[in-house]
Amino acid sequence: MLALETDRLTKDYAVGFWRRRPYRALDGLSLQVEAGEVFGLLGPNGAGKTTTLKLLMELIYPTSGRIAILGHPPGHPEVRRRAGFLPEAPYFYDYLTAEELLSYFAGLFGLRDGARRARVAALLDLVGIGGERRLALRKCSKGMLQRVGLAQALLNEPDLVFLDEPMSGLDPLGRRDVRAIVLGLRDRGCTVVFSSHILSDAEALCSRVGILVGGRLVAAGRLSDMLAFEVEGWELVMAGLDEAALGALGSRVRRATPLGGGRYAIELPPVDDPDCAVAGLRARGGRLVSLNPMRATLEDYFVRQVEARAGGPAAGRTVPER
Ligand SMILES: Nc1ncnc2c1ncn2[C@@H]1O[C@H](COP(=O)(O)OP(=O)(O)OP(=O)(O)O)[C@@H](O)[C@H]1O
Ligand SMILES: [Mg+2]
Repeated sequence: MLALETDRLTKDYAVGFWRRRPYRALDGLSLQVEAGEVFGLLGPNGAGKTTTLKLLMELIYPTSGRIAILGHPPGHPEVRRRAGFLPEAPYFYDYLTAEELLSYFAGLFGLRDGARRARVAALLDLVGIGGERRLALRKCSKGMLQRVGLAQALLNEPDLVFLDEPMSGLDPLGRRDVRAIVLGLRDRGCTVVFSSHILSDAEALCSRVGILVGGRLVAAGRLSDMLAFEVEGWELVMAGLDEAALGALGSRVRRATPLGGGRYAIELPPVDDPDCAVAGLRARGGRLVSLNPMRATLEDYFVRQVEARAGGPAAGRTVPER
């Protein structure tokens, strides 16, 4: 079953003060996300990620195109009941405490008394807010507010959550916590759609990603299909070597970086048989420290996609006049 489907979704904002003209922030986005998937919407600043999520939550309306969430149009009562949303900049009633705020939202979802208290306490535990739950939100740090926002998105035990930059403002421990929460959601069958520019998080969490550049989807698919997993070379670290021993490998060495203390990081091209090089260096007194295949990362792929599109047709995005 599809949790989310968009068909040629397009959004023009009206820009300019005297003469309003349309500016195309999202251009014909067609996406499908299966139920139970963790889908990453990636793209540089201004690519249209937040615009997409706002359209899905019906905070803004499309210029054209169609959206189906859990088989319904956005804003359908079933969608409101079953979906959760973490906005990019969650603004809160800042004189309330985290506990009071979540209690209030839980009331909107129809939870009462003991059930409401239990849900709020469990979510605050889940997102790692301890004693600070009784602190006015205006006194909370950015990372703490992000955690409150995440707890808020999960109040209704959603089947589908949309998270706009869930890792923003979090320190490494906070990011690890959020990763664990997202994996926990996936394990209970919840579909997660999140936007990010932290590619390592996307690589760790997503089954599929879409890359938006200048309002257009330039790539979408499984990470395993997108990243050529063939080895781009070998990185060999050997100890106990000298220049002469390295010289024996000759032109097969792409690069050799001295690491100090007779240790070298040696890059070999992909065609090379690393065993043969290791054996050659061992014979000259070298000791193998590590041998790693070098593969393209999502980051390499992302940078290539963005660079290929920079200055392309999506760059000047004012909609042509009719
Ligand atoms: N209300 C608005 N009016 C006019 N232009 C807007 C409006 N909101 C967004 N834009 C423009 O639309 C484009 C896409 O913005 P959007 O916020 O969706 O990007 P994003 O991918 O979320 O970026 P970021 O990574 O910085 O959050 C940007 O060029 C932005 O300036
Ligand atoms: Mg954004």
